[in-house]
Amino acid sequence: MTKKFRYKLYYGGRAGGKSYAFADSLLFLGRMKKLRIACMREVQDSIKDSVYKLLCDRIKFNELHEYRILQTQIINKITGTSFIFKGLSNQSAQNIKSLEGIDIVWLEEAQKISKQSWDILNPTIRKIGSEIWISMNRETENDPVWQAVAQNPDKNTLVVKVNYTDNPFCSEEIKYIAEKCKKENPEEYAHIWLGAPLSQAQNRLIPSYLIQMARKKTDIHTCSPLIIGLDVARFGDDSTVFCFRRGRCCLRFESFHGLDNVEVANRATFYIKEYRPAKIFIDAGGVGGGVVDILNDRGFKKIVRPVMFGSKAMLSDRYFNRRAEMWDELRAWLASEQGVCIPDDEVLCAELSIAGKKYDSKGRLQLEEKDEIKKKLGRSPDKADALALSFAEPVYERENTTEFSSDSLEYAFRKSAGHNNGW
Ligand SMILES: Nc1ncnc2c1ncn2[C@@H]1O[C@H](COP(=O)(O)OP(=O)(O)OP(=O)(O)O)[C@@H](O)[C@H]1O
Ligand SMILES: [Mg+2]
Repeated sequence: MTKKFRYKLYYGGRAGGKSYAFADSLLFLGRMKKLRIACMREVQDSIKDSVYKLLCDRIKFNELHEYRILQTQIINKITGTSFIFKGLSNQSAQNIKSLEGIDIVWLEEAQKISKQSWDILNPTIRKIGSEIWISMNRETENDPVWQAVAQNPDKNTLVVKVNYTDNPFCSEEIKYIAEKCKKENPEEYAHIWLGAPLSQAQNRLIPSYLIQMARKKTDIHTCSPLIIGLDVARFGDDSTVFCFRRGRCCLRFESFHGLDNVEVANRATFYIKEYRPAKIFIDAGGVGGGVVDILNDRGFKKIVRPVMFGSKAMLSDRYFNRRAEMWDELRAWLASEQGVCIPDDEVLCAELSIAGKKYDSKGRLQLEEKDEIKKKLGRSPDKADALALSFAEPVYERENTTEFSSDSLEYAFRKSAGHNNGW
């Protein structure tokens, strides 16, 4: 690590020892001569997000007493070496310019660094002999830093792959988790533990064969309680969508344009009274909060559940947020052994198959940002979101329920639609 290269890029899966090796090497180099070292990542809201703590731990562990740990910096009292910690996305042009005197930049979690951030940073690190050290777990084939540095490496670039299998300090617990993942989900193992980038197809949360199987299935009988997922439109183009699901059968969707909150609440009230759902899960992040308030005021508090897509997941060590958690429940439902059915609906199937997945720096599943999905789809995935909402919480069977087949349920809906001037 001490050999001179303009770029040193270490990549691989989790627990390869990248961060520890970078920390130890930089602390070691900083003892030999005065260096200005910037530890950077795409987003750093507080120093806690940075490698500051790791450096402090390594200073203590290696008993490097000449390092002084300050609140936002680390300084070597003998050589004058300093470590600073910054997020790239929250730097002004002026702040970036102040990096011109930096000797070494450490870009941690570099798969998250945007092309824009890289294009500003790279030419700013211009001091003679300056180096950019990069540690990353590749996300996709198109990670901007990977493309810029490692796609076509030249003699000034060192690219090294390290995995947990190369890390002599890797704990038995980590090895066990990795091997379990290898058995249960080889694709996920290759990505998380061997650092393979996700390809376009692997990048999708829901494989298309699962969607095709579900749309072809019709012979499902269920006496599970009715659940409604309600995705409330936020902007002009989006639709307000109600999804009706009983257990293994997603029955139908009802979409509306241009309804205000009271009108949405009126629709919901009608469905609640007519079909007696066990639960209605409502996206309460945007204007949906108002719909929840109205329904609660009308006395439906017991069955109405507000859901915030962006809030913390119930299994927060596995999922980045509720949205990823619900969509993954939906994926698992589609993959369930007994089979499930969804309406034979092109729009729904396109929405279900387009959502990409990724993993955050803690290895938690994250869904592609809604804006990205919107760009690809040309609209919001309202139906798929409404179906995902129906998985917000487990809903338990009620007693004395009659058995329905998917056909008879569809019939019941059509019949009541006729009686009520169409919905
Ligand atoms: N020099 C070391 N001394 C002691 N333990 C080490 C050392 N290097 C690595 N480890 C152990 O291996 C683990 C993984 O190392 P590290 O966090 O550096 O990997 P990484 O490649 O950065 O992984 P991730 O992608 O998960 O960030 C550490 O948590 C630590 O337990
Ligand atoms: Mg690391």
